[in-house]
Amino acid sequence: MVEDGSFTVTPWEVSGEIDYDLLVEKFGTKRIDQALIDRMAKYGPIHPLMRRGVVYSHRDMDWILDRYDAGEPFYLYTGRGPSGQTHLGHLMPWLFTKHLQDVFNVPLYFQLTDDEKFLFNEGLTLDDTRGMAYQNLLDVIALGFDPGKTKIFLDTEYIHNLYPFALQVAKKVTFSTAKAVFGFDNSTNIGSIFYTSIQTAPAFLGSALAGKNVPCLIPCGIDQDPHFRVTRDIAPSLGYYKPALLHNKMFPGLGGGDKMSSSQPNSTIYTTDAPKVVRKKINTAFTGGAVTVDEQRKSGGKPEICAVFKYKFYLFEPEDRKLDELYDRCRKGEVLCGECKKTLGDAVACFLEKHQEAREKAKDRVDEFILRD
Ligand code: TRP
Repeated sequence: MVEDGSFTVTPWEVSGEIDYDLLVEKFGTKRIDQALIDRMAKYGPIHPLMRRGVVYSHRDMDWILDRYDAGEPFYLYTGRGPSGQTHLGHLMPWLFTKHLQDVFNVPLYFQLTDDEKFLFNEGLTLDDTRGMAYQNLLDVIALGFDPGKTKIFLDTEYIHNLYPFALQVAKKVTFSTAKAVFGFDNSTNIGSIFYTSIQTAPAFLGSALAGKNVPCLIPCGIDQDPHFRVTRDIAPSLGYYKPALLHNKMFPGLGGGDKMSSSQPNSTIYTTDAPKVVRKKINTAFTGGAVTVDEQRKSGGKPEICAVFKYKFYLFEPEDRKLDELYDRCRKGEVLCGECKKTLGDAVACFLEKHQEAREKAKDRVDEFILRD
């Protein structure tokens, strides 16, 4: 947990102006450097999110590649806390995970933590979080994961399989560790204190199902690192490998904040939003533009603080050359916010149109992916 006065990052709260360098330092992770990127380029194309430093930190990525090279492939594990409808920020790490699955041709376990969101959110019932999990998994399936290699489960429906792992983990984690890592206190409900052992379970599950130790790679938001620090600490004592991690930064909101959040629906683009709604939200986005057109033509815009530019940077302009060009033209005042919002609106609407079609089809495909006890 990091609370730095100006920002807070815990697995359950991300707010303020996040200092990502400080997180690397405080969490003790490694920055992804050029040497690692060069090494990864040997297996397949580097995803733009990694090239641009959105996926920016890791633990033991070199080790995972060493094992892979030695003929010991890994499996992927990631997840989602189903507290609301899926938005673009959620899709980002999943798209990256899909890329890893395609490049390395490896299995993926996807955990939907209906238990977590029930325990940590005052206002949500178990029916709410389960229902939401079934909404969210349509978005996962819609991204085109390979059903032969991708398994999705809700904690409450797969607990029979998870529980033995969770128990082994729980016995190794003291309350004092949980307090230090997650900031719990005496008013925290006891389910929340236990929960991290459930999030750890899938990091060992792949080994148990394979009947031998299999390396595990977890792509996740940097905010989830505290859970996996606990996982990594206890893994050797249970006879498992420590999972490796790839961390991404948080996806920005349209309001200019550092994280897209469902608590601000107008600066959040949901995967189920109609094109008209999306364009409207983008039109009210925070930009780096000047107050008047004349002034912007004269002194230029500020792409570095602009939410519209950030969206292109994160997901909607895959070509580096075009992105650089846009950056320059904006700084010189050659492109105005209206035009830029329009091209982003087109790109997002086009993406969502295809996504929504795939999401509809996913409704008939749930059984191909889901694991239940
Ligand atoms: N706790 C995560 C959330 O709130 C969900 C999650 C479970 C997860 N297992 C994971 C995220 C593994 C990344 C990787 O969204």
